[in-house]
Amino acid sequence: MTVERTEEETVAFTVENGVAWVKFNRPEKRNCMSPKLNRQMKKVLEELEFRDDVQVLVLTGEGKAWSAGMDLQEYFRENEEKGLGAVRKAQRESYGWFERLRWYEKPTIAMINGWCFGGGYGPLFGCDIAIAAEDAQFGLSEINWGILPGGGASKVAQELMPFRKAMYHAMMGENLTGKQAEEQGLITEAVPADQLLARVTAIADVLKKKDGHALRATKWTMRRMVDMTYDNALDFQIRAQEALHSFGGAESRREATRQFLDEKSFKPGLGTFDTSKVTR
Ligand code: ACO
Repeated sequence: MTVERTEEETVAFTVENGVAWVKFNRPEKRNCMSPKLNRQMKKVLEELEFRDDVQVLVLTGEGKAWSAGMDLQEYFRENEEKGLGAVRKAQRESYGWFERLRWYEKPTIAMINGWCFGGGYGPLFGCDIAIAAEDAQFGLSEINWGILPGGGASKVAQELMPFRKAMYHAMMGENLTGKQAEEQGLITEAVPADQLLARVTAIADVLKKKDGHALRATKWTMRRMVDMTYDNALDFQIRAQEALHSFGGAESRREATRQFLDEKSFKPGLGTFDTSKVTR
């Protein structure tokens, strides 16, 4: 199907009640990632990152797919015909926004509504929480068309899944349902398709009530620690907590402690303190 989209039209987004709903927007091409889409996604992520009306970002797909991976025509074939310079440029554009997402300053949720293949594992991993429809399909389909799962995809499977499952997944080219992806650790949770939006909205509502500075430091710490020794991780946590204090963390912590110890208005073991009372 031929639908001519401008670069801007490859990504759609709305901001509602503190949540930015960002969509891969090439449903006629199952939201596969073209260079245009990659450039536009980076722009959109950067535009939303420090907006005061955005507390949580959700990445989802228009139509039947989350993303059918890299665009075999526009990302691979056309750039390979142009030569190494074009190939590297396209790689940098896509890997660039995957990286931006991994270190995003706000919490992110992948809402996987359908197909998720190959290159799609980059942004899947970039999101902090991944909720899928039970009937979504996940695949490292690279082996089915004669390449290895590059662009981070095999690394994502190896990091998130038990090794035997990841190896089978990469070698066999068979898809996992949302339910199987949950069981094998690739995503956080799978829910029936008709409950997907409600579940993601409920998670976003919880995240919105947390202290944004603490969330930022928490997600970075979780990601950074992956290849650290225990002692290095401990040290990093001390530094990260102290750095957090420079950007609002000290006031949040003082107020939360006051609400628990003095005001007795909440219990940290049972919920979140009232962030609206923090004065900076
Ligand atoms: N690259 C380029 N075009 C694509 C891609 C893709 N990754 N995925 C889908 N399309 C196009 C199809 O060519 C088709 O275009 P056309 O209408 O011009 O013929 C259109 O999107 C619709 O696709 P269909 O195959 O007709 O849709 P269907 O719903 O039947 O199947 C499915 C969906 C299973 C996702 C199928 O399109 C598919 O296998 N896509 C490729 C998945 C894949 O292997 N991606 C690459 C992973 S490897 C990597 O990312 C490095």
